[in-house]
Amino acid sequence: MTTMWKVNPDASPTHPFLLEAGRLLAEGGTVAFPTETVYGLGADACDTRAVEAIFAAKGRPSDNPLIVHIADLDQLDELVEAVDDTSRRLIDAFWPGPLTLVLPARPGAVSPRVTAGLATVAVRMPAHPVALALIRAAGRPVAAPSANRSGRPSPTLAAHVRDDLDGRIGGIVDGGPTGVGLESTVAVVEAAGGRVHVLRPGGVTVDELRRAAPHAEVTVEAAPEEALAPRSPGMKYAHYAPRGRLAVVFGDADRAVARVREALAEAKRSGERTGVLTVAEHAERYGDEADLVVPCGSAADASSSARELYAALRRFDDAGITFIRAEGFAETGDGIGLAFLNRLTKAAAHRIERV
Ligand code: TXA
Ligand code: MG
Repeated sequence: MTTMWKVNPDASPTHPFLLEAGRLLAEGGTVAFPTETVYGLGADACDTRAVEAIFAAKGRPSDNPLIVHIADLDQLDELVEAVDDTSRRLIDAFWPGPLTLVLPARPGAVSPRVTAGLATVAVRMPAHPVALALIRAAGRPVAAPSANRSGRPSPTLAAHVRDDLDGRIGGIVDGGPTGVGLESTVAVVEAAGGRVHVLRPGGVTVDELRRAAPHAEVTVEAAPEEALAPRSPGMKYAHYAPRGRLAVVFGDADRAVARVREALAEAKRSGERTGVLTVAEHAERYGDEADLVVPCGSAADASSSARELYAALRRFDDAGITFIRAEGFAETGDGIGLAFLNRLTKAAAHRIERV
């Protein structure tokens, strides 16, 4: 049975539900909780049995390592061998916050199942009072991937976690909707501190990394289909995908809308249930050819599209949509739009059309 605990997003760290959930973690249980990015599925990072329960509940491939979540900087020293100066700067600038740093692991500090046998460990300090209180209540570093079944869109509401994992995990702390809506940025410092390499774009943008480490070059991992061996193992798997076939149409807004309408109409004639993912400003431009129109944020504000993407993708599944086109998202820049497009094109398994 999965226990549900409902708390306010700014609940007191001594709220009885948080203490109870923390106790469950300390005893080797699995607990889902909100962060500022997406909901995570937590377990004691030092307890191999507990960590294995995460992989089992999610159906996650065992070679994909987990992020270790901490609530205090003292915990970092127990997990890693050393923190280089550039990583230290990034920590000062962004923690607590949506930046995960890959650092040299202290041997034996966490279960080898967390690091999937790598010599590095990915660590982050989430900027969410409920997450921080829960980690403190557990008194342990908490390994936590996103709290979805593997391959599904990450959860931005406790209801998404329940849909995917009810009966498979110990408990869910419902602290309301998450903030950013996409996962943390995963980065590793290389070249003796001279390079910050982004393995996964996310909540901390490339522009923000450049500003915080002006002495370093900031690079972004190539899209997984271009890289021979993705260095962040998670990037090679099918992700975030709705059940219907999704493709993304890029280009001038009028042409993209026209192209999407045409594709939807054709699909409908062959008996598909059709859906379109668009921006609020364009929602009115679709007629009978779409069985479901899902607005996802505003064209003027990429962070609103980021916040709404995963819930939007889940709506297509709820409505039994079999054919989906996405349209109308700006393609450029090193802001949050980069992470948004990374997730959207992954959800589409890189089926992209340009008009
Ligand atoms: O925002 C987030 O990061 C959320 C919340 C819950 O904190 N967590 C999350 O975890 O997205 P997950 O497991 O879905 O993604 C972890 C990513 C994967 O792409 C994984 O391959 C990568 O981090 N990763 C973990 N450890 C790594 C390591 N030692 N080296 C390189 N990549 C690593
Ligand atoms: Mg995930």
